[in-house]
Amino acid sequence: MTIYENFGGAIIISLLILSVLVLAIHYIKRGTKGVQLDDSNNVIERFTRFERTLHNIRALTFTIAAISGLVFLFIEGTVAAGMMHNISGILFFTTSVITFFLWHKSFWFKPYDKSWLQHLGGYLTKQSLSLPAGKFNAGQKIFFWITILLPIFLLATGINLFISRITETEADGTILIIHAGTATLATILVVGHIYLSLWANKGTWRVLKNGKVSVKWAQSNHPNWEIENPKSKPSIKANSKSKPKPSKNRVSI
Ligand code: HEM
Repeated sequence: MTIYENFGGAIIISLLILSVLVLAIHYIKRGTKGVQLDDSNNVIERFTRFERTLHNIRALTFTIAAISGLVFLFIEGTVAAGMMHNISGILFFTTSVITFFLWHKSFWFKPYDKSWLQHLGGYLTKQSLSLPAGKFNAGQKIFFWITILLPIFLLATGINLFISRITETEADGTILIIHAGTATLATILVVGHIYLSLWANKGTWRVLKNGKVSVKWAQSNHPNWEIENPKSKPSIKANSKSKPKPSKNRVSI
């Protein structure tokens, strides 16, 4: 019996509970700050329908893979959970590859990201800080790259484990630990990601409904975001507090 077989499940569950506790303490101590996203005055397109659909399929397949993986861990030989895990895992990997090609240009680091990182995005201070951020802030960029890299490890180790299963040979202990460790890290990061969009930056989840945000929200959260204004649609003037005005071209908010 290896350490993984004896304590793997308990360690994973403890880490997940610990991360939820840390986030709960963060919320109690710091709460929510900055401009919150509500359903009014949302005129700037942040995500297209395709981007939202892709994100949501990725979110769903990740959730199914994580839950079925946990079931699998505790109840060996659960065929349904095993099948769901394999299918959702492959779909999660595939949507992650598409996400890379679709989004990578927006996630390259810029010099101003350093300041955001030095202040840890203002998440550990009581007062609201105005920090430089493009369409995505430095924290979102790090999250993006991790969620592009981790599926590669998960798929490679997952295929290895699958082959051991169908050939009825013993799974390599190291591969098992890498697979479970990577999955646990990914789950903790996604729990953090959900916390940020639902609680720490209240209302951000609304952008997944129609892909639009308000001028105020964009100015407050992503001051260096350059917006491509569709000619016929209302647009935003740089640093303007006013309502949308007729568009000209690309503006920086
Ligand atoms: C399951 C529940 C999830 C919720 C509620 C959620 C929510 C959101 C929201 C509201 C945004 C837009 C943030 C913004 O506009 O600033 C977003 C963006 C994003 N989501 Fe999710 N998400 C979830 C799951 C996932 C999963 C599983 C992944 C990938 C592993 C993921 C990857 C991303 C990435 C890369 C972005 C763009 C960068 C960022 O905002 O961090 N999301 N998500």
